[in-house]
Amino acid sequence: MKYLVTGAAGFIGFYVAQRLCQQGHQVIGLDNLNDYYDVSLKQARLNKLIKFDSFNFVKLDLADRTGIAKFFAQEKFNRVIHLAAQAGVRYSIDNPMAYADANLVGHLTILEGCRHHNVEHLVYASSSSVYGLNSKTPFATADSVDHPISLYAATKKSNELMSHSYSHLYSIPTTGLRFFTVYGPWGRPDMALFKFTKAIVEGQAIDIYNHGDMRRDFTYIDDIVEGILRIQDVIPEKNEQWQVETGSAANSSAPYKIFNIGNGNPVKLLDFIHSLEQSLGMVAKKKLMPMQAGDVYQTYADVEDLFHVTGYKPSTTVAQGVENFVQWYKSFYHV
Ligand SMILES: NC(=O)c1ccc[n+]([C@@H]2O[C@H](COP(=O)([O-])OP(=O)(O)OC[C@H]3O[C@@H](n4cnc5c(N)ncnc54)[C@H](O)[C@@H]3O)[C@@H](O)[C@H]2O)c1
Repeated sequence: MKYLVTGAAGFIGFYVAQRLCQQGHQVIGLDNLNDYYDVSLKQARLNKLIKFDSFNFVKLDLADRTGIAKFFAQEKFNRVIHLAAQAGVRYSIDNPMAYADANLVGHLTILEGCRHHNVEHLVYASSSSVYGLNSKTPFATADSVDHPISLYAATKKSNELMSHSYSHLYSIPTTGLRFFTVYGPWGRPDMALFKFTKAIVEGQAIDIYNHGDMRRDFTYIDDIVEGILRIQDVIPEKNEQWQVETGSAANSSAPYKIFNIGNGNPVKLLDFIHSLEQSLGMVAKKKLMPMQAGDVYQTYADVEDLFHVTGYKPSTTVAQGVENFVQWYKSFYHV
């Protein structure tokens, strides 16, 4: 099959593109290689991907309406896995327009491409951040998510709404995946594990928000990728029986679905840091800080639907996942 993977130079997109190539599919990876974080890390991921004969890279911005329309017309994809976005909760406070371009206009150009070129399934990244002010745990896809607390989260919820309208109007099967704090080798420099590792190795103090009183449902990259690959084979269908009043918010009469992909096991931030200290064989200098605007206290995924539909539940332990990250970090950065 011919796949479009957007954000292929990004953390998750890189792994997804790699796995699809290993499975014998043809993959076009799209990315604009922006400098939100170190471009050489994006380039290093791409250097691994271009070793596959079945992989081709296209540098294009999602917000380039004409460019994306032409690209879809030329390539005629069977399936689209849309992972490119402006990520990060904190960055959205100072750079809101980046989210409008990449996440709102960008999501619409992808929907339009799918609409006009008979894509059989669009799978796209949403986020656990859509749960915003929700306090009931575990976070379930049937819950209302109308109270985001960052613009990033609001754009991700908007992606779900936009997708629903296209699934309804044009019968495009769409599946939104709410990822929960993904970590692992080749991970993002703006995320906690990378920042903590770098600081500890360099003898700097690490900033620990909300005085360490936070929990995250950390999900190892291989578990996320396995979930994405299984879900993209489960193509949503119309369900005329579904009704707003009685049906789950994660389903619809349209061919539309939402899933959580998380570990289903929140870990205390300080325990996560302890695992990192053990893997590094070093002790972190800790700087306790207040809660940051836009952050949530806890994330905790209900992954029953994912298990029900795919027979799969993420299972990598934090100790193992962090150890794998540390091994990669040491060899990639020669420390
Ligand atoms: N990593 C996580 O913990 C996490 C959690 C929840 C949701 N997500 C979502 O999963 C997806 C992948 O995240 P990631 O961690 O791999 O992030 P990432 O930043 O590593 O990857 C995103 C890629 O998209 C590209 N991109 C951004 N804007 C673009 C544009 N306008 N046009 C073309 N390319 C563009 C970037 O250059 C980057 O390579 C994103 O949609 C993100 O919001 C990630």
